[in-house]
Amino acid sequence: MANDFDILILGGGPGGYVAALYAALNKGQRVGIVEQERLGGVCLNWGCIPSKTMAKGAEMLQQLQQHGAEYGINATPSFDFATLMRRKDVVVNQLVGGIYQLMKARKVEVFGGTGRLVKPNTLLVHSAEGDQELTARSIILATGASIANIPIPGADLPGVINSDDAVSLTELPRSLTIIGGGVIGMEFASIYSAFGVKVNVVEILPRILRNTDDEIVRRFQTIIKGQGVGIYADAKVQQIREAEGGLETVVQTKDGEKVFASELVLIAGGRIPNVDATGGRDLGLEVANRAVKVNGRMQTNIPGVYAIGDLIGGAMLAHVASYEGEVAIDNILGYEREADYSAVPDCIFTLPEIGSVGLTESQAKEQGRAVKVGKFPFSALGRAQSMGDTNGLVKIVSDPGDGTILGMAVMGPHASDLIAEGALAVQMKVKASDLAHTIHTHPTLPEATMEAAQGAATGGYIHYGS
Ligand code: NAI
Repeated sequence: MANDFDILILGGGPGGYVAALYAALNKGQRVGIVEQERLGGVCLNWGCIPSKTMAKGAEMLQQLQQHGAEYGINATPSFDFATLMRRKDVVVNQLVGGIYQLMKARKVEVFGGTGRLVKPNTLLVHSAEGDQELTARSIILATGASIANIPIPGADLPGVINSDDAVSLTELPRSLTIIGGGVIGMEFASIYSAFGVKVNVVEILPRILRNTDDEIVRRFQTIIKGQGVGIYADAKVQQIREAEGGLETVVQTKDGEKVFASELVLIAGGRIPNVDATGGRDLGLEVANRAVKVNGRMQTNIPGVYAIGDLIGGAMLAHVASYEGEVAIDNILGYEREADYSAVPDCIFTLPEIGSVGLTESQAKEQGRAVKVGKFPFSALGRAQSMGDTNGLVKIVSDPGDGTILGMAVMGPHASDLIAEGALAVQMKVKASDLAHTIHTHPTLPEATMEAAQGAATGGYIHYGS
């Protein structure tokens, strides 16, 4: 039948589109995907890719300003925000176009429209051309998450923006107040402050970046404050109001009321799974903690219906969504596969970057575990010195009994790349001594990981300490 598929996927973000491409590697499966906007989801269109292109611009500018002269580059760089934003659009469009090409090459049928589950094996797709029903043996729900609405008086005033707007501005604001010191808030604080915007961050919890290693957050805060960013934790926003030349954010802090005047206010207070968008509630789709409930095989309580990605809560990360998409497809194809979240790497693309995987030192201690920690600073590493990028460290947390690596955290140059080795180590339960005894290329940044592992294994380092 024309509208009958083996596998249908609702939502074309990094969960859904990867599931579709992975499924289509199995010849003979008829795969369809429904997307109401553009394939690529938030990650490609509004999130990871646009913000990382902006972060690259910020990093280049900062590097030239801070270290250019040391390398004999004496010109003061001039910066044109509009050019960077055009570059961002080029990168996004190229990648989104690439996904459409892959879909075509792999014969995945793409339906542009808004779909919802109307029966366990049926999606109703609404588009400008009308409505149509698509059926499948298995359906994967991958409708993602949306920006949380935080009930702050004045949040609807002109000049109050969200993360979608923050990657779509056409002009640089003079000043920016960011509400929410989570991942999005701190990435934009780094990016916009590097562009010369005066940034203040207001966080309701006692600290920013609540899931990241305490010591790394402390060091990061010192760096970013040194770049002129104001960080106010334990601070409750009372209201945003209009004022001469922009907005005022009124905040209750430990030291009394503070008022931050800024041209724009960015609210970055988390994301909420798009459960209603699935249509599944009418069919009794089980929901827990505002997310679709699944088992380790990504199965919902409705037979034949799977859910993945931000929609199921947990770590709302593109790479986790893609992984869950592959797990769902493997189960649909009959390979029994359980999701394993023991090593989920997580990267924050601030300046400097932060990467983490496994347990932090304090999380391990909260679990009552004894830990042995190795820490190696980039300031002691030849490659980091030669790059002029010595802020930060690699930290390895291991079990003092058998030496197993429990977690790794990095702040510094290419932290988001370096964490891959930590993810493999945690996933494979590698011992600190194994990592320390693995030959690492010289001179490279991963030598810091080898040294930190050496510290965790033996308490000593080759290039650091007495
Ligand atoms: P988040 O949950 O990381 O941070 C939100 C922050 O806002 C929290 O610290 C929270 O305490 C604070 N907050 C909430 N209400 C507030 C209020 N009224 N006043 C002050 N502070 C308030 O969420 P975020 O940063 O919006 O990111 C959303 C999702 O996107 C996260 O799951 C994140 O992991 C993901 N993401 C991942 C990225 C990456 O992997 N590099 C980049 C950007 C987003």
